[in-house]
This record gives sequence, structure tokens and C-alpha cells, in this order.
Amino acid sequence: MEKKCLLTIVALGLVCAIGLVPSVVAHAQDNVEFMRDRGIDENNTAPGIVKQKTDKGRFIRNYRQQPPLIPHRIDQYEIDKKVNQCMRCHDWPYNVTENAPKISETHYTNREGQALDHIARTRWFCTQCHVPQADAPELVPNTFKPLERKQ
Ligand code: HEC
Ligand code: HEC
Repeated sequence: MEKKCLLTIVALGLVCAIGLVPSVVAHAQDNVEFMRDRGIDENNTAPGIVKQKTDKGRFIRNYRQQPPLIPHRIDQYEIDKKVNQCMRCHDWPYNVTENAPKISETHYTNREGQALDHIARTRWFCTQCHVPQADAPELVPNTFKPLERKQ
């Protein structure tokens, strides 16, 4: 009987503690401005990509060092620690048969400036830098203007 009583108290304590967590998190959220449409305690699945390709052809680069935008869909191409499906078209020599642009020579250079025979690990996660082009409104209003091009 006593044991049961103790268990009930422990269980009640747990329920109270768990109940407190969301209110603490909700309070923290009140003071934080964030762009995701869900609370910080909720999983945020990536929004569905409506259109990754535009009919306008390829977007030009806005400045010289810009990673080129991806002019094709990528939602079927897996990239994780072991697999990188982008490389089956963009790595030399596969790019030749796939008629795809080869990854830049900079991507075969490690951070010490040493030329490698394979892609540098610092370039493995392509979508860190390259994003599919999309004709979408900016997330945050800004006054960015592309560099003027001299012909
Ligand atoms: C089935 C082959 C294939 C796969 C897989 C593939 N690509 Fe491509 N990619 C191409 C081709 C072909 C082009 C050239 C398209 C064009 O010229 O319009 C291209 C163009 C690009 C460009 C533009 C390069 C430039 O110089 O403007 C980037 C960046 C790119 N791809 C990145 C990626 C990334 C990142 C992935 C993986 C998420 C990927 N690609 C997967 C075939 C592929
Ligand atoms: C750290 C940022 C970064 C990562 C990661 C990265 N790239 Fe790039 N990529 C760039 C930049 C910047 C350029 C343009 C300047 C240059 O050529 O280095 C570029 C250029 C390219 C080009 C055009 C090459 C050319 O000669 O015009 C292709 C194709 C490309 N990247 C594909 C990929 C693929 C595929 C991956 C993943 C395996 C990848 N990149 C990873 C930044 C990155």
C-alpha cells in the first residue's frame, strides 16, 4: 500500500514537471524573433518546394564569387555522410558522359591549399552553398543590388 502511494507521488511529480516544460519554452519564444513558422520545441519539416526550375533559363550570378544556382530539381538526390548523388554527374570523369559542368577545381583543393584527386570534404555538402534557383520573394526585405556588369 505504501509503495503504491509513493509511486503515485512520483508519477504526479513527473506530470507536473513535464507540464512545466512547454510553458517555459513558450515564454522563451515570446522574446525571440524567428523566421520559422513553428515553435522551437516543434520539429520543422522543410516546406514543400513548389517550383525549383523556372522557365526563364539560368539565373546569372550577382557577383563574381557567387556559387552558381542549381538550374535543375534536386529533391531526388541524396546527400549524406556516405552518399552524394550530385557527384555521379558533376565529378570528373562522369560529368563528361552526363554532359554536366564539372565541379570547380577549387572543390578538389583542401583547406591547406593542397590539390586532391577527389572532392575536398569541405565541399561535400553541396547545398550548403548551392541552392536551386527559384523565382521567390525574399524572406527578409533588403536593398541588395547586384554588382554592375562591365561588358
Ligand atoms: C543526372 C545528372 C545530375 C545530377 C545527379 C545533378 N546534376 Fe547538377 N547539373 C546537371 C546538368 C546536366 C547541368 C547543366 C544544366 C544546364 O546547363 O542547364 C547541371 C547544372 C548544375 C549547376 C550549375 C553549374 C553552373 O556552372 O552554372 C549546379 C550548381 C549544380 N548542377 C549542382 C548540383 C547539385 C548540388 C546536385 C545534387 C544535389 C546536382 N547538381 C545533381 C546534371 C546533374
Ligand atoms: C563552400 C561552398 C561550396 C560547396 C560546399 C560546394 N560548392 Fe560548388 N561552387 C562554390 C563556388 C563559390 C563556386 C564558384 C567559384 C568556383 O568556381 O570555385 C562553385 C562552383 C561550382 C560549379 C561550377 C563550376 C564551373 O567551373 O563553373 C559546380 C558545377 C559546382 N560548384 C558544383 C558543386 C557540387 C556538385 C558540390 C557538392 C559536391 C559543390 N559544388 C559544393 C561553392 C561551393
